[in-house]
Amino acid sequence: METPVHSHIDLQTLCRMKAQGAKFAMLTAYDHPTAVAAERAGVHALLVGDSLACVVLGHASTRDAPLDLMVTLAEAVRRGAPRVYLVGDLPFACTVGGAATVVEGARRFRDEAGCDGVKYEAPSDKAAVVEALASAGFETIAHLGLRPQTVTSPDGYRAQARDAGAIRQLVRDARRMVTAGAAMILLEAVPAEASEAVVEAVSVPVIGCGAGPACDGHVLVTQDMLGIGSIRPPRFVPRYADLGEQMVAAMRRWVREIADRTYPAPEHVYPMRRTDAGG
Ligand code: KIV
Repeated sequence: METPVHSHIDLQTLCRMKAQGAKFAMLTAYDHPTAVAAERAGVHALLVGDSLACVVLGHASTRDAPLDLMVTLAEAVRRGAPRVYLVGDLPFACTVGGAATVVEGARRFRDEAGCDGVKYEAPSDKAAVVEALASAGFETIAHLGLRPQTVTSPDGYRAQARDAGAIRQLVRDARRMVTAGAAMILLEAVPAEASEAVVEAVSVPVIGCGAGPACDGHVLVTQDMLGIGSIRPPRFVPRYADLGEQMVAAMRRWVREIADRTYPAPEHVYPMRRTDAGG
């Protein structure tokens, strides 16, 4: 059954959901049709993630996500899903010039694409960047745990914070980012014990990406859960569809029907305009 989203979902909505113990759903979207489908399905938040570098552009690393393209796609996503909480993911390219270029990237996501918030992969020593974003008025999600921008090969993706010491460090980082002004925390690929500790330690919503049940919301890469593309999804992704196989089957049929001339059939052909009764 569809759960339509009636009014614009903002940060307050997500905080209220957290306070009420209601979990929210977030997906990645890099195009208009996906955005339309997600909003119709009742998804609360969409992320124009730098994962598009791998999922859409076929690169090995998320570092290759171009800001210009992401802003253009975020605009398309906003057109398709005017009411969801829309997040622009600050790509690696934005971070090379320090806080100033990060803030400029955030400004583009907000002013050119209509994003509600931005996500920043936040190394422990970069709380000042989160502070710069927050003091410039950006609702900022600090991404902790596995930070894909630090990974440069496909086998480099590993779960983080898997012992007590690392969990203590993660909690310290989360607190530091919230003190710096982070509006939400995103935890990627950490054990359930780690996300429980972070949820306990901070008052802002915590979004999990493979981070166990304590999180206030959960995010997946849409292509992974729909079974599209060549990337083998991580263990925390349930497969809700096999659209990749359906695409191949449909395209095979198209190739076959052209070869055996069943396409175009009469219903696919424009008739001549009728001129008079005699034709
Ligand atoms: O870029 C992305 O899609 C992400 C999510 C996996 C959290 O950062």
